[in-house]
Amino acid sequence: MARILLGVTGGIAAYKACELTRLLVKDGHEVVPLVTPGAERFVRAETFHALARRPPAEDVYPHLTRADLLVVAPCTANTLAKLAHGIADNVLTEAALAHRGPTLVAPAMNPRMWAHAATRANVETLNARGIHFVGPDEGEMAEGEWGVGRMAEPAEILVAIRELLIPPGPLRGKHVLVSAGGTREPIDSVRYVGNRSSGRMGVALAAEARRRGANVTLLAANVAVDTPEGVDVVLTPTSEDMAREAFARSDADVVVMAAAPADYRPAAARTDKRPKDTSTWTVELEPTTDILLTLGEQRRDGQVLVGFAADAGETGVERARAKLVRKHANLIVFNDVSRDDVGFDNPDNEVVLVTAGAERTVARAPKAEIAAAILDEVERILHG
Ligand SMILES: Cc1cc2nc3c(=O)[nH]c(=O)nc-3n(C[C@H](O)[C@H](O)[C@H](O)COP(=O)(O)O)c2cc1C
Repeated sequence: MARILLGVTGGIAAYKACELTRLLVKDGHEVVPLVTPGAERFVRAETFHALARRPPAEDVYPHLTRADLLVVAPCTANTLAKLAHGIADNVLTEAALAHRGPTLVAPAMNPRMWAHAATRANVETLNARGIHFVGPDEGEMAEGEWGVGRMAEPAEILVAIRELLIPPGPLRGKHVLVSAGGTREPIDSVRYVGNRSSGRMGVALAAEARRRGANVTLLAANVAVDTPEGVDVVLTPTSEDMAREAFARSDADVVVMAAAPADYRPAAARTDKRPKDTSTWTVELEPTTDILLTLGEQRRDGQVLVGFAADAGETGVERARAKLVRKHANLIVFNDVSRDDVGFDNPDNEVVLVTAGAERTVARAPKAEIAAAILDEVERILHG
């Protein structure tokens, strides 16, 4: 996702930068470790190169001027002073002068060093220059002293990094509710009525909304893929679960119902397993709550409601248009489930975005790209 220069300087907390490197790589970022000679006394540069999956003898200079973010964690009093005064005597401090994007500093030092007038003045200089800080926290130092000076925990630094990497846009800070997957309606204690939805489309939408800075809740009905990092996942295996959890969050700024909740469920599910025998078994199905319709009837001013229409052929688009009006939605995403190459349980999709004034076809593409096109449309609607 982003290219991050990770400066590591000479404090005991350098070992915690190993965990930070791992978390950043797991988050999908390209990490370029810049380890000072002071830090090498604590953790070898090779360790960071291995964790960042980079060649040990790589020439880092070509990366220095093309990074999205510079992070210094831990940042010693010494490096803090160099950053404040523009001293460039090692690869990290050189990079800091060459770098033009945001910088995040996680100081780590003895509480008396942190409280010293020289350090206070350096922090003030860096603050005035727009440098971001995370920590230091209060706690026990490695040498046993108590006070403010402990480096922020890697997970806390990761949150600060994610915030800095979010591009400003209409979805930033908005609550986006997304549903994904297909519900399973019990017939007895082991059997169910289900559908082929894998949840890929909804999961791609949740990931894209998170990438755009939204606070995302994902209602996950038996999804077959991993759920994205940084998203609040609520498991909703049945349509009743999904309805309850969706209605509890019906005040979200944007609601995208991408799941395939069952339209019908067994009227009376057995609580035990029906033994196998030679007689036929007739199961009566009853309609489930129409989640999209209920959300549409409750839709408040300014809220954007998106529904999906899994239908077939030319007349499918017409039915999607009727659905837009009937369900009080702002956007219906039509996907043709009669095709084998897109839609249900497929990595690709091709959709028609049906809004009050227009119809727009988004050509076949991976679901991540389709998700981006859908959220572009949501942003247009949010803009009015
Ligand atoms: C065992 C030990 C632990 C240290 N821990 C810190 C620390 O937590 N914070 C700090 O500012 N300096 C600490 N220092 C001092 C720095 O290592 C020293 O200032 C060094 O020059 C920093 O270089 P750098 O900022 O280029 O990495 C420590 C020194 C030693 C020997």
